[in-house]
Amino acid sequence: MTGSVPRPPRLGLTRADLDALPNYVPGRSPADLARELGLTEAIKLASNEVPFGPLPGVVEAVTEAVTGVHRYPDMGVVALRDALAERYGVPAERIATGCGSVALAEHLVRATCLPGDEMVYSWRSFEAYPIIAATSGASSVRVPNTAAHGHDLSAMAAAITDRTRLVIVCNPNNPTGTSVRKAELDAFLDAVPQDVLVVIDEAYREFVTDRQVPDGLTYLDRPNVVVLRTLSKAWGLAGLRIGFLVAHPEVAAAVRKVVTPFSTSLAAQAGALAALTQADEMRRRCDVVISERERVTEALRKLLPEVPTSQANFVWLPLGDAAVAFGRACEARGVIVRPFAGDGVRVTIGTPEENDAFLAAAEAALA
Ligand SMILES: Cc1ncc(COP(=O)(O)O)c(C=O)c1O
Repeated sequence: MTGSVPRPPRLGLTRADLDALPNYVPGRSPADLARELGLTEAIKLASNEVPFGPLPGVVEAVTEAVTGVHRYPDMGVVALRDALAERYGVPAERIATGCGSVALAEHLVRATCLPGDEMVYSWRSFEAYPIIAATSGASSVRVPNTAAHGHDLSAMAAAITDRTRLVIVCNPNNPTGTSVRKAELDAFLDAVPQDVLVVIDEAYREFVTDRQVPDGLTYLDRPNVVVLRTLSKAWGLAGLRIGFLVAHPEVAAAVRKVVTPFSTSLAAQAGALAALTQADEMRRRCDVVISERERVTEALRKLLPEVPTSQANFVWLPLGDAAVAFGRACEARGVIVRPFAGDGVRVTIGTPEENDAFLAAAEAALA
């Protein structure tokens, strides 16, 4: 076009810094693996889902809701926020919902960090954190886990600078299953400046049995604390994509402002409302997972004594450079686990039969 301003040459259509970003790795498809191995089905223990199907009433509620999908959902998510407020004993104005808690983590970064601002988290932790930081333009500050695979909260407090806007405490930590206890979290929160948001990511809260691991909701008198929860795990709604946060009203309002419009879908709202009426059944299912977690941990420790105590619905095998080979060996026996190259392997607790199949595969791989 004549008269257009000459533009400097660029190398691609999208941001060059994205090349350095790892892809989020979803668990491998069990159907694919079963086909490859000629099995009727493979076992997926790679994505920390609870294996017992949707809670009673969820399928019916979602089926009923989808008759109205020609309409937008309630953008204020009023009924669901009210139900969450009642269950957790907090005002609805403190709650924001989103398309999974991972989306809410992203919205929190969007609501706090400008390009160059820092987000501090422990590493290794949830693999979405570095992606969220980078895509929001924030700088990731990763504080190495302790030798016991948990958060080093003193080092995390020491890593806070004038540029830090947000710190994430993943409790229990994905993928290592370790957790921080009340005394250390209290001391950490006392050390963090009041204008830095502390996000306590409690995706696995319902599986915690250690009474010294505090419920993040007990810290809400501190305005800079945000608690992130999901209905994907214990509540069995991973496929519907629904998570929520509880925060100071101003923070919750800021998140509701930056949230992608209508991203808590009609089906997610209906499914979540139905699931929340099934708290006793949710508890019963989590208790099965917890007792299996103890059984699997004990069996694994006979093969690998360093397996840390997990407070989540998965266990961590700190296998270092042997992680990928272990993952392949399990897959060869029809069990999909989640290796992190050079570091370890995360294995979700499944049904007792699935766990037995995994333990047989682990024994063969580690013998
Ligand atoms: C620690 C942690 N936080 C958040 C999430 C996100 O869960 P969702 O987006 O399904 O709510 C996960 C999922 O694996 C997780 O492990």
